[in-house]
Amino acid sequence: MDRFLIEGGVPLNGEIQTSGAKNAALPALAACLLTPEPVTLHRIPRVKDIATMTSLLRAVGAKVDMDGGTVRVEAKEFVKTEAPYELVKTMRASSLVLGPMAARCGTARVSMPGGCAIGARPINLHILGLEQLGAQIAQTHGYIEASAPDGLRGATVHFDRITVTGTEDLMMAAVLARGETILQNAAREPEVTDLAHLLIRMGARIEGAGSSTIRIEGVESLHGAEHTIIPDRIEAGTFLIGGAITGGNLLVTQCNPEHLGALIAKLKLCGVAVSEEASNAVRVKAGVALRACDMITEEYPGFPTDLQAQYMALMTQADGISMVTETIFENRFMHAPELMRMGASIRIEGRQAIVAGPRELTGAQVMSSDLRASASLVLAALVAKGQTTVDRVYHMDRGYERIEQKLAGAGARVTRV
Ligand code: EPZ
Repeated sequence: MDRFLIEGGVPLNGEIQTSGAKNAALPALAACLLTPEPVTLHRIPRVKDIATMTSLLRAVGAKVDMDGGTVRVEAKEFVKTEAPYELVKTMRASSLVLGPMAARCGTARVSMPGGCAIGARPINLHILGLEQLGAQIAQTHGYIEASAPDGLRGATVHFDRITVTGTEDLMMAAVLARGETILQNAAREPEVTDLAHLLIRMGARIEGAGSSTIRIEGVESLHGAEHTIIPDRIEAGTFLIGGAITGGNLLVTQCNPEHLGALIAKLKLCGVAVSEEASNAVRVKAGVALRACDMITEEYPGFPTDLQAQYMALMTQADGISMVTETIFENRFMHAPELMRMGASIRIEGRQAIVAGPRELTGAQVMSSDLRASASLVLAALVAKGQTTVDRVYHMDRGYERIEQKLAGAGARVTRV
């Protein structure tokens, strides 16, 4: 099992390039199942979750060719319409094939994803939406079986909670449903909008993606298309926080500053100099001092829950008391005890973490628990005195492409062993 050895105390300087967004690439790959014609996707990040999704596409019968960051998928015919447990248990986003298979084939059998480290993460809203589009759903032996032998029909679906992959799943199901579908209280994440752009290129009729109400007019069939995935705002945000926490001068390139509004505003309030350079690069320069600022996670365009752990690491170095509130997931503070082992002063009260800073961090042996918690520990290790060993970095490999090379390229002393 790989681990990172990190020598702290070196500021991140220079440039780091952002990869394509994992959470845009996953639904885009699932969308390829909606047409028998080839779909070509560019800027697909080489991370574990993508490998899992391409294995899933191959398992149902699609041809998948990968060439660097370009993936070509051709789902001419299906050998089965099942997402097996052994794949779904490693990546819950496998539920994104539920909508496309139900819509294209009229049947889909997907293992229930089960919980994960950060919360129960049910997919009841995906299922409820599909039922409203006319699918019969059975849940047996740990699997969801959706059937719509006469095809799906448009309906108005109101989400009780804002769900990113729920919105994506239902949007993909609705593009081939008969009639109009309206998704209300839909997620507004850039990854939802990017998926809509791909589907429209494939011939779908969608309006309102990026707002809370999305209208989809079903069509008979979709055709092939070519599409470039948006930059990964969470990866870019992780590096911006890295530049701030190490007191460096770092330019994050190939990103989309518009998708980073909440983080950029917060960093400026903390006293970090943040400037946009060109249309796709953001520079952070540490100011004289880092001020503690409260933060609450919210659905987009609020502060992203996927940057909460990284922000908490930053607040351990900030001057004052900050209140970090996690409103999206019920158990997303597992990085806190590990940060405390490095010297941080954090108190957890339910959904809130109170961080007192600044506290000098010292290198330690720490354990990753989930994808973004491990990013938080790496950032803390970059500023800690001495050496830190971060275990179970396979969590990072799920969502960060070559992160140790990217960090080393900006001066960090990090090696994978
Ligand atoms: C997506 O997960 C992302 N994953 C997550 O990123 C991200 O943290 C999350 O959105 C929130 O932004 C992908 O896009 C592949 P949700 P998703 O459905 O769609 C509850 C990462 O680090 N809920 O928006 O699974 C749910 O329990 C990952 O890359 C239901 O109750 O999240 C949660 O509390 C981690 N029923 C809240 O809604 C449902 O049917 C938001 O979940 C669906 C969700």
